[in-house]
Amino acid sequence: MIRVIRVKDAAEAAEKAFEVMKEFIKPGKVLGLATGSTPLGLYAKMVEDHKQNGTSYKEIKSFNLDEYVGLPITHPESYYAFMHRNLFDQIDIPEENTHVPSGLGEDLEAQAREYDEMIAESPVDIQLLGIGSDGHIAFNEPGTPFDSGTHVTDLAESTIKDNCRFFDNDISKVPTQAVTQGIGTIMKARNILLIATGANKAKAVKEMLEGPVDESCPASILQRHDSVVVIVDEPAASLLS
Ligand code: F6R
Repeated sequence: MIRVIRVKDAAEAAEKAFEVMKEFIKPGKVLGLATGSTPLGLYAKMVEDHKQNGTSYKEIKSFNLDEYVGLPITHPESYYAFMHRNLFDQIDIPEENTHVPSGLGEDLEAQAREYDEMIAESPVDIQLLGIGSDGHIAFNEPGTPFDSGTHVTDLAESTIKDNCRFFDNDISKVPTQAVTQGIGTIMKARNILLIATGANKAKAVKEMLEGPVDESCPASILQRHDSVVVIVDEPAASLLS
């Protein structure tokens, strides 16, 4: 079941998302985390709450959705670096409790299977998601099987263009592959929180919520999950009936 919460703008989306997330910032919980522009407001709220109210992450674990293939963790645009900069380094979560898939290694597919095994041992209580303008969740691009596990994938042309802004607007600098949790992995999370803000998400949001459940819109699978909250701002909701 999907509960849709409509808000005015990205700032209000971050507030609502924090209200949902707060219930899971408790000892023993496992958070599924995302990167990109969308969760930045929520992460800022989590940091503020940690600093002002002392909310602790010492006994929390986290698993991120994805990582670019070929970027070392020292690269500022690696998702490892993103997570440290925007969240992990500003709260008290122990490094060993955080997990970001590695985009480097001899056998990325074997590493991907190990990642799924780790998640199976510590099931995710709440998975945070953004949505791509093409309807992707994590880096599961249109056409990815709904039962996929963590795997290596090629990024869609539209995703490479969308992410160009993080790489000096130079398309040749954007990695073309990523390691991503599969749709099957994501669907195992007990609860899902998806945030969509901005007009460039409007079409994907409409297809996710009102379209058929079809692999052409990866996010449409969320219609089959028991517990999903979708927070949409006005521009992202503009095509909804
Ligand atoms: C990030 C991720 C992606 C993004 C999506 C939206 O970990 O998995 O699916 O959520 O590409 O990106 P932004 O938030 O930058 O619009």
